[in-house]
Amino acid sequence: MSAEVVDSEAGVDRVGDERQSSPGAEKQCQQQQTSVVEEQLADDAAAATSAAEEKQSDSSSSQQATSRKRAHEDSEPVPKKVARTELDDTSKDSNVPSDLSTTSKNRDNVNATDSNQHSGQSTVPADHTNIVASHYNQLEEKGLSQRNQSRIIHMRNFNNWLKSTLIKEYIDKTKQKKSLNDPLKVLDMCCGKGGDLYKWRDGYVTHVIFADIAAVSVEQCQARYRDLGNRRYPPLYTAEFLAYDCTKVRLREKYKDVTVQLDLVSCQFAFHYSFESLQQAECMFKNASESLKAGGYFIGTIPNAYELMSRYHKADGKKIGNEIYSIEFQFDKNDVPLFGAKYHFHLEGVVDCPEFLVYPPMFEKLAWKYGLELVMFEKFEDYYERQKNDGKTRLGKMQALETYPPSQDVPLRGKVPEDYQHAIEYMQSSTGHRKIGTLSQAEWDAITLYSVFAFQKAKTHWNAEGKPEYIKT
Ligand SMILES: C[S@@+](CC[C@H](N)C(=O)[O-])C[C@H]1O[C@@H](n2cnc3c(N)ncnc32)[C@H](O)[C@@H]1O
Repeated sequence: MSAEVVDSEAGVDRVGDERQSSPGAEKQCQQQQTSVVEEQLADDAAAATSAAEEKQSDSSSSQQATSRKRAHEDSEPVPKKVARTELDDTSKDSNVPSDLSTTSKNRDNVNATDSNQHSGQSTVPADHTNIVASHYNQLEEKGLSQRNQSRIIHMRNFNNWLKSTLIKEYIDKTKQKKSLNDPLKVLDMCCGKGGDLYKWRDGYVTHVIFADIAAVSVEQCQARYRDLGNRRYPPLYTAEFLAYDCTKVRLREKYKDVTVQLDLVSCQFAFHYSFESLQQAECMFKNASESLKAGGYFIGTIPNAYELMSRYHKADGKKIGNEIYSIEFQFDKNDVPLFGAKYHFHLEGVVDCPEFLVYPPMFEKLAWKYGLELVMFEKFEDYYERQKNDGKTRLGKMQALETYPPSQDVPLRGKVPEDYQHAIEYMQSSTGHRKIGTLSQAEWDAITLYSVFAFQKAKTHWNAEGKPEYIKT
């Protein structure tokens, strides 16, 4: 097959033609055909449940056997060693309709009762996107000095380091395939207040589309972008700002240039919100995929379902957590739906809203329906291990680690000594280290709830019936 046959721009149009009939409507993602995936996945339902249980028990035992030592010399913690997550081929379908009327403007539903008790059959009667949007819209924008006083400042910096490492890694991979002055276009899906604005600048990308359901956050993102442009820093990318629900609205129709070909799509700490229902997850994948060039990347960070379930299985009741994060599961640990598996997540001053479990095999399988081939899925601690040497300078610059023992004027943020037992032991067992970089146990326990992922867009071939077929790279 020639390269022309699989030209992705043509592919985008055909996908649109096939799955959407009324351009312009904000409900379009809901109209996607889900029958194909439902048919494919229904057969796997029983296998999915038993595989999930096996996975969870494997995960628990491997984690028990794992060292939690994190102290390290020269500003590097030693995270616990865990096996790389294997994605197996199990899944089942779901039937979870959602309210189609939600838009980013619809943000006064904070008090909506959240009384769904999910059964294993994955029924989610209410739509949580309003609650999520309201939460993020009301989140106070904190100044630098206030942020620096946070109990979880190092965890936030560590997560930021991890995102910047991931973004840099995939910008570099993208650039390797380009000539020097070629444009590099990005979609920052669920951008929030623009936490990654600087990362795009530092990567010398040429255009960024910022999209988020929380209209107030998008406004703040736009204001921060303007500030950035006003500084004397050579040349800033162009940008556009969209306040839409990415799980329900077809973003491509909202772009200034609907024919735009993206090189990179990034969705940081947000894809899990779409796992409220199959339709929403599919809409997110469609948004991630349909404007992406063949060979382009879709990257992000999500909670790790295996780790969440492993901790849930060990817990007495439905709650897990420590002094900085808490999770209350709202489904039965032995009867977990693939969509709508809701838990309430609270993270000190940052998150306080419902989230949904993302079962990795389903994540991978659904992505492939949209031509996205999984190329990397790693726990945060494994990604850190792999990247810490290359990213060492930035670890220091971004203050992603806490210094132990503390300086007199900068006390430790965690509880002493219990949050630093690993550092104490490390210092006692090693020689020649006066100071090390580490993280408190409480922060590390929250950090290790997450995974990092990367997909690559496959080439599209249009079959005789006019349907897209994707060719793995
Ligand atoms: C934890 S914040 C992450 C923000 C940003 N990506 C970052 O890393 O700084 C999650 C973001 O996802 C957004 N979000 C949640 N559900 C969404 C949806 N259905 N459509 C678009 N954005 C959504 C929230 O408004 C919030 O800004």
